[in-house]
This record gives sequence, C-alpha cells and structure tokens, in this order.
Amino acid sequence: MCGIVGYLGKKKAVSILIEGLSKLEYRGYDSAGIALIEDGVVKVQKRKGRLANLGETLKDTELNSKIGIGHTRWATHGEPSDLNSHPHVNGDGTIAVVHNGIIENYIVLKEWLVSEGYKFVSETDTEVIPHLVDYYYNGNLEDAVIKATQKMEGSYALGVISEKEPGKIVAVRKDSPLIVGVGENEGFIASDIPAVLNHTRDVYLLEDKEYVVITEDGIKIMNSKKEEIKKEIFHVTWDVDAAEKGGYEHFMLKEIHEQPKAIKDTLTSRIVKGEKIKLDSISLTKEQLENIDRIYIVACGTAYHSGVVGKYVIERLAKVPVEIDIASEFRYRNPLINERTLMIAISQSGETADTLGALRLAKEKGARIIAITNVVGSSISREADDVLYTWAGPEIAVASTKAYTTMLIALYIISLYMAEIKGTVKQSEIEKVKDGLLNLSEKTVEILNNTEKIKNFVEKVYDQRDVYYLGRGLDYAIAMEGSLKLKEISYIHSEAYAGGELKHGTIALIEEGTTVIALATQEDLFEKMVSNIKEVKTRGANVLGIAMEGHDYIEKTVDEAVYIPRVMPILAPVLSVIPLQVLAYYTAVRKGCDVDKPRNLAKSVTVE
Ligand code: F6R
Repeated sequence: MCGIVGYLGKKKAVSILIEGLSKLEYRGYDSAGIALIEDGVVKVQKRKGRLANLGETLKDTELNSKIGIGHTRWATHGEPSDLNSHPHVNGDGTIAVVHNGIIENYIVLKEWLVSEGYKFVSETDTEVIPHLVDYYYNGNLEDAVIKATQKMEGSYALGVISEKEPGKIVAVRKDSPLIVGVGENEGFIASDIPAVLNHTRDVYLLEDKEYVVITEDGIKIMNSKKEEIKKEIFHVTWDVDAAEKGGYEHFMLKEIHEQPKAIKDTLTSRIVKGEKIKLDSISLTKEQLENIDRIYIVACGTAYHSGVVGKYVIERLAKVPVEIDIASEFRYRNPLINERTLMIAISQSGETADTLGALRLAKEKGARIIAITNVVGSSISREADDVLYTWAGPEIAVASTKAYTTMLIALYIISLYMAEIKGTVKQSEIEKVKDGLLNLSEKTVEILNNTEKIKNFVEKVYDQRDVYYLGRGLDYAIAMEGSLKLKEISYIHSEAYAGGELKHGTIALIEEGTTVIALATQEDLFEKMVSNIKEVKTRGANVLGIAMEGHDYIEKTVDEAVYIPRVMPILAPVLSVIPLQVLAYYTAVRKGCDVDKPRNLAKSVTVE
C-alpha cells in the first residue's frame, strides 16, 4: 500500500503535493518523493524515511512548477532507500512515474526491457513502468501509458508526467484506488480523498482501466480506446479526519474491513491455480527440507497466536515437528538448536525486540531463519535468511487484525510449499487447499456484510468482568487471539481455554450470567466441543457459539449462534477470527474506550 498524488493548475505544485502526501502517510511512510516539471525539465526529489525528511530536503529549494506528482511509499519490492523511492524515471529522466500497487509480471518485463537496452537502477517492480512508457512513447503520453498498461499484470494506480509534454498528467488505475479532484482551473489525482479535500470537495471516483488526462484545458477521462467517459462528480461531505479513515470511525474497523484485499494480495503470485507454489525468492530444496528435523515458530502477542495455527498446519501438511514459542521465553530457555533447525520468526512490525533477539540466537547456533513480516526492510526482514512478506499494507490501529489474518495466509503458503516439495500429502489435496485459499477473500466479505448478531451480542459482553473463550484444535488458537483482542481494547479480563482443559480448574469460575464465546468450527471436534459448551451452560453461562454453516445443531446448546461460510476446517481460522475481531471492536466502542490507541500499549515493542 502506498499513496500517490498529482497536481496541475495555477498554484505552486510542491506545497500542494507535500500537503496531499501528508494526508496519505497512513498508507505508507518509509520513503517519499515528488517529481515536478521545473523550467521544462523533470526534477525529482526523493528521500528514505518519513515525509518530514523530504520536506527538510526541499525547504531551501525554490520550486515554482505548477505541475507535479508525488508518492509516499510502503515498500513491497526493494527495501526502503532513496533509490527505491518513487518517482521512478526512464533512462534519460524525461518521464516520471508514481505507482501504488504491485506489477506481478515485472520480472518478465524487466528481462525484456533489459534485452532492449534499458538500464535499471532500483530493485522495484515500478521501475519497469517509466521504461515501458518510454518504449511506447511516440509523441503522445496517454497513448504510451495505454500501451504500457496493456503489458502490465497486477495492480496499479499511476501518475505519469513527461517533459516532452510539460502541461499534462496522465493517470490510470487497476485494482488500486485512485480519485481525481476537480478544482477551478486545476486538477488533482490522489489515492484517497483526504489528499485533495483542502482544495476541492468535487471528485471523480475512477473505475478500473479508466485513463485520465489532466491539462490546462481540463480533465478528460477515457477508456483504453480513447473513447471519452462521462462521469458524475461525487461531492464529498465528510470531514478530513473521517475521510482519512475511509469513512470508518476507527482505523481498527477500517483494517478489519481491509482483510479481504489484504488476504488476496498476500496470496497474489504465490498461489496460482494449477501452478507450483512460489515463495518469492525463497527456495528450499527437497534435500534441505529433509535435513530439517525441527521447526521453531517464534513470535509475540498476536503474531504468536498466528504461529499456534502455523504449528497445526505445518505438522498436518508438511509432517515436520513444530514447536511454537513466545519469543521472550525462547531466548532464555536454552532451546536445542543446530543446523537442522528451521526457525520461522513472525512479526508484523519486524522490529519486536524479543523476536529479533530469538532470531539472532537461533542464527548464531546455525539455524536457518524464515521471517514472516509486514514491513519491508525492517530489522527482522534484514537479519533473516529468507522473508515472506504479508502484503497487508500499514496497520495503524494498535490491535492487530489484517496483519494477523495475512500471517495465517503466509503460514498456509509455507506449509503447502513444504508439503509440495516433500510430497507429504497428495497433489490433489494440495490443490484443494489452494482452491480453498483462493476463495477465502470473498468469504471474508460475506462475514463482514453480516455482523448484526455479533453487534447485538456486545450487550452481553460490555459490562462483564470476565469473559471466557473456548475452542479445541485450531479453534483453541483462535480463542486465544479473540481473547487477546477483547482484553487489549476493551479492558475486560478474558481467558482462552482448550475446551477439554476447562474442567481441570477454570470451570470453577463459571457462574450464572458468565459470558462464554465458544468456537466449534472443526468438524472432527464438533461433538466434543458441544459437550464442553453444555458443561458451561449447565453452570449458567451465556454462550455465543461460532460454527460452520450447516452446523445449526449448535443452536440447541448456545444462546446465540454465528456461522462462518463453509470452508475446509484447516482454513477456518482465517474466517472464525473475524467475528471475534468485530465483537472486540464494538465492545470497546460500547465502553467508550480509545480503540485505536489502547492504554499502556504500543504498536511496536522495541524493548525487552
Ligand atoms: C495485539 C498486537 C500485539 C503484537 C505484538 C507483536 O493486537 O498487535 O500483540 O502482535 O506486539 O508485534 P509484531 O507482530 O510487530 O512483532
């Protein structure tokens, strides 16, 4: 996820671009840059780090241009650096491009462009775009952009300028957001509405493959055949603050709703029907995998909970013993590690001190490390041998939601990859899980469109002192995550228990009116879970049951039942956690808590 902006009009572009980017920093903030056409020449300024760094660089430069594009980056391909920052330019620097999205076929395009004599300076996928536009340029910028995009696969929102046509911005989107701001004698492009709201409230909401040309004569929107498209102006009535959150009241709710896309993006190009699984640049041979006799998954908090699911899934599919450890415990318990050990270190931020410490310890003792992280160029990503990124985009709310579900996706991908190479399960079974994964994104949409029952159940939760979450197998892992979500943002004490373990002590705490959230999505454990639910029901508990569609028998035992769409039980965690995120969110809202910034917590814990 990155943010792009563009301006053409009568005012100085630089301040408008920087201000626009500041409203988009929530989309990424590891580097920023702008390109202007200054005295007839493309001038690019870009810097690693927050937008303020770029501002510092620009502060003593007189820039008078009335046209420009800008970018704030959340790295996916290539670590955060000055060189990898946008805008990117063609060989002679006459064309500049800002891009939000991922060009999936960039390797093929790059190889072809190199064979045509083009030289690349960055590690990004984006750099193919200015070269492609250059290749097709024949006196008309929009023609060249249309031709270039016809070669590109993946997602993109683009802003393109060229000094050969210094009074023009060309833009287009496919699967990445882009809006056009309509001012008086001026036009804007932006990834999101807040970037233009201080200048105009009239915008066009672009659809995929709509091309925009902004010149001093006005704004033209057309299709790839250059036929003009007449669009209605959308008049924005919300305030800037609400707009930054995409109209959601909190970042957490926005991020919960971003999960369908985050899941899809994380699967992109790694799981493709009928093709072998790809782990980006990670390649483990059959011999290397057979040499591994133990896997440690190490992480903290929510990332640790994703690892609990990972243990089940890797053992089931790849048939390697997996130990799951809390990083701060692992570091100090003299774990048995040697060259036959593989560590999977999971961390959204890639900066958690204990996870980094555990990684360093394992590396020192000869283990191979695969990191799963959301932040390109983070410490953990740099120190691991291999990295599989979760392409969730920046997560702003302290309580992790989309990072968690995409960590699960990354763990499924790794498990399937190992199973495929080692041949531990039949290819038909692997294809079935792949199909299931590819359908998950739309099933999460179904859940998110159907949250009324959960919202109503908040009344049974918000005034409780204690809430208990129960589950067996993979449901136990999700119970742990659901419980953490509730306690961290609503400050209600909650605990997760394995269904069968409850009666060994904790059931003493269940009394009339105690709220229990029971997960029963695992078909082979359904009957046993129903018995556990009965145990708490007979002691007076108020139970919310979460089961797979078709298991309405659960309604006989619980007070309220919520169903997730049918999926293979092994994939159910990605779906069953969503109602629990929603429950925690609305409970915190009901209690008037500071949802995005809960007390005593920090997004990234860089101390022990
Ligand atoms: C909970 C939460 C934390 C983090 C933990 C690890 O919602 O976000 O428990 O999961 O602090 O952080 P990362 O994944 O950045 O290592």
